[in-house]
Amino acid sequence: MLNQQSPLLVTGGAGFIGSHFVLDWFAAVDTPLVNLDKLTYAGNLRNLEPLAGRAGYTFVRGDIRDRALVDSLLRQHRPRAIVHLAAESHVDRSLVGPGEFLDTNVHGTFVLLEAARGYWQEMPAEDREQFRFLHVSTDEVYGSLKPGDAPFEETFAFRPNSPYAASKAASDMLVRAWHKSYGLPTVVTNCSNNYGPMQFPEKLLPLVLDRAIHGQPLPIYGDGMQVRDWLYVGDHAAALRVALERGKPGETYNIGGWNEQANLHTVTMLCALLDEMLPDSPHRPHARLMTSVADRPGHDRRYAINATKAERELGWRPRETFETGLRKTVRWYLDNQDWVEEVTSGAYRQWMETNYAGR
Ligand code: NAD
Ligand code: TYD
Repeated sequence: MLNQQSPLLVTGGAGFIGSHFVLDWFAAVDTPLVNLDKLTYAGNLRNLEPLAGRAGYTFVRGDIRDRALVDSLLRQHRPRAIVHLAAESHVDRSLVGPGEFLDTNVHGTFVLLEAARGYWQEMPAEDREQFRFLHVSTDEVYGSLKPGDAPFEETFAFRPNSPYAASKAASDMLVRAWHKSYGLPTVVTNCSNNYGPMQFPEKLLPLVLDRAIHGQPLPIYGDGMQVRDWLYVGDHAAALRVALERGKPGETYNIGGWNEQANLHTVTMLCALLDEMLPDSPHRPHARLMTSVADRPGHDRRYAINATKAERELGWRPRETFETGLRKTVRWYLDNQDWVEEVTSGAYRQWMETNYAGR
């Protein structure tokens, strides 16, 4: 029989959002959790060091596309839910090599759904009602907004523009179909851009922080007036926890920070915080390092989330403001330079060469 002590099976729990979700789970709920992660360049077990030796925490290195492995984990651990975060997640990488995005995000989600369906169909009826498949997705599936357009609602059509967004949209569609066709109790969340500690420095905020600290140019794609709706990662982790407990099967919830910012403004805020926290830096004022570079092809102009449904039905609201969240984030990167150095050695240098040399 499933009960509240039955474990969660989390995929991608060593990545940026996944590791915050796992840490938040043990802080807030503290019931067993199995973390399945392939440890790609984006997965980092250091993020989960606070859980070393923790009762109820199990890490398994493996691929979500490995059906035999997923089946055996479901048989062995009998989870009450799957929380699916594993993905290739960086738009620029998807432009350079889209194949891995389709393999992981689309085929990987298909394998998990099929394994979940087999496991779920064999349960007693009362367990079937309790089980959840929580699929963690992005607002990028909705495409790009114009300046006066209303923020994304759950009913909006999908208009993905990058290979990453298309692969996530395809996975969302599969999840929808597995609910409609087979009755699998799925819940989908579509969240806006996250920022916070432990984000891999290929994404805007940690990339800018790392480069500014070292006095290197800060690459601003195009005119820098693209708008993103930033959410502190801890608020996303909390939203996933409540979506798991209160989300209705078959429903989708948009998660966002009510926090639209143009990239230029975001980078200017980061530079001002560094000026304040590094009063002796020879690179002050850091904003001088901002450099316009060639734009990203197909670059989405604006994302904005209407999170009213999540607030109303899940009782969730973000707790951090952009100011408090950015301050925490900058402090963490300054205090954890060794974390950044570790993940930016080796293959990272090759990526920076591939993405920025020709711009
Ligand atoms: P991330 O790239 O930091 O982490 C992804 C994790 O998945 C890594 O630990 C990686 O090792 C693991 N992984 C990749 N392929 C795997 C496979 N085949 N099998 C098992 N594990 C695999 O990503 P993130 O930023 O933490 O995003 C997590 C999820 O949230 C993704 O599904 C992403 O689409 C979604 N999301 C991200 C954002 C954001 O701003 N970062 C916003 C909304 C939604
Ligand atoms: P990113 O963090 O890659 O997230 P996403 O593409 O999923 O929104 O980028 C955030 C914004 O910052 C996006 O508009 C692209 C822009 N950007 C730059 O201007 N320069 C950079 O070097 C990077 C990585 C992103």
